[in-house]
Amino acid sequence: MNVILLGPPGAGKGTQAKRLEEKHRLIQLSTGDMLRAAVASGSDLGKKAKEIMDAGNLVPDDLMIAMISDRIDQPDCANGFILDGFPRTTPQAEALDRMLEEKGLKLHSVIEMKVQDEILVDRITGRYTCASCGAGYHERFQQPKVEGVCDVCGGTEFKRRSDDNAETVRSRLAAYHAQTAPILPYYAEKGVLKAIDGMTEIDRVTEQIEDALGAA
Ligand code: AP5
Ligand code: MG
Repeated sequence: MNVILLGPPGAGKGTQAKRLEEKHRLIQLSTGDMLRAAVASGSDLGKKAKEIMDAGNLVPDDLMIAMISDRIDQPDCANGFILDGFPRTTPQAEALDRMLEEKGLKLHSVIEMKVQDEILVDRITGRYTCASCGAGYHERFQQPKVEGVCDVCGGTEFKRRSDDNAETVRSRLAAYHAQTAPILPYYAEKGVLKAIDGMTEIDRVTEQIEDALGAA
C-alpha cells in the first residue's frame, strides 16, 4: 500500500506516518527528514537546502523528485510507503504519477489532514524530538510519560528544528496555501483523495486515517 499524507506544516503528518509504519509495516518517506539529514551531513544538497528551509520556502522540484525516486527504489520500500511532505507542488505530483507508472506501483490513497492555521503555529512552536531516536513530542499535546526521558529509547537529550519559529512557520504556511493546496483538486479528480479532521486528538486522527484507508 502506497499512501500520501498531505497537509500543512504541523498537521501531524510525521506523527501519523510513524503510527502507520508500525501498524502496516510501511516505510515513512519524509522529504523534510531527508533534507535535514542532508543538512546535518554537510552535503552539497544540504548546503543548498538549509537556507531555503530556514526561510520557509520550498526546495527546487528537480532535486526533490530525484531524491524521492531514488528512495522508492530501495528494497525496504517494497511492502509500501507513506509519503510525508511529498508531493508539494503540481510538478512534483505529476512527476510522482510518472515515476509510479514507470516503477509499476499504484497509489492507494491521498489523505488530506485538515487543520486551521492558528492551531498549527501552536503545534509547531511547541514541538521537540528525541535527539537519539527522533521520536516526536509536544510541550502540551504529547509529553513523554516520564518528564525528560524519551518513551521510545530512554534518551534524555531533545532538540528543536531551526525552522520551528513563529516567523518561519508563517512563510511555510504561505508556501502550503500557494503551492501545495492547489494539488488537492488534482487528486480529487483521480478519486483517491480523502479528507480527515486533523484538529481532534492524536488517537482520533489515527482512527480516521485507518477508516479512510480501509474504505479505499
Ligand atoms: P517538512 O519536514 O515536511 O515540514 P512540514 O511540512 O512543514 O511539516 P512538519 O514536519 O512541520 O509537520 P508535520 O505535519 O509532520 O507535524 P508533526 O507530526 O510533527 O518540511 C520542512 C521543509 O523542508 C519545508 O519547509 C521545505 O523547505 C523542505 N521540503 C520538504 N519537502 C519538500 C518538498 N517535497 N518540496 C520542496 N521542499 C520540501 O506534528 C506537529 C506537532 O504537533 C508535534 O509536536 C506533535 O506532537 C503535535 N501534534 C500532532 N498531531 C496532533 C494532534 N492531533 N493534536 C495535538 N497535537 C498534535
Ligand atoms: Mg513532519
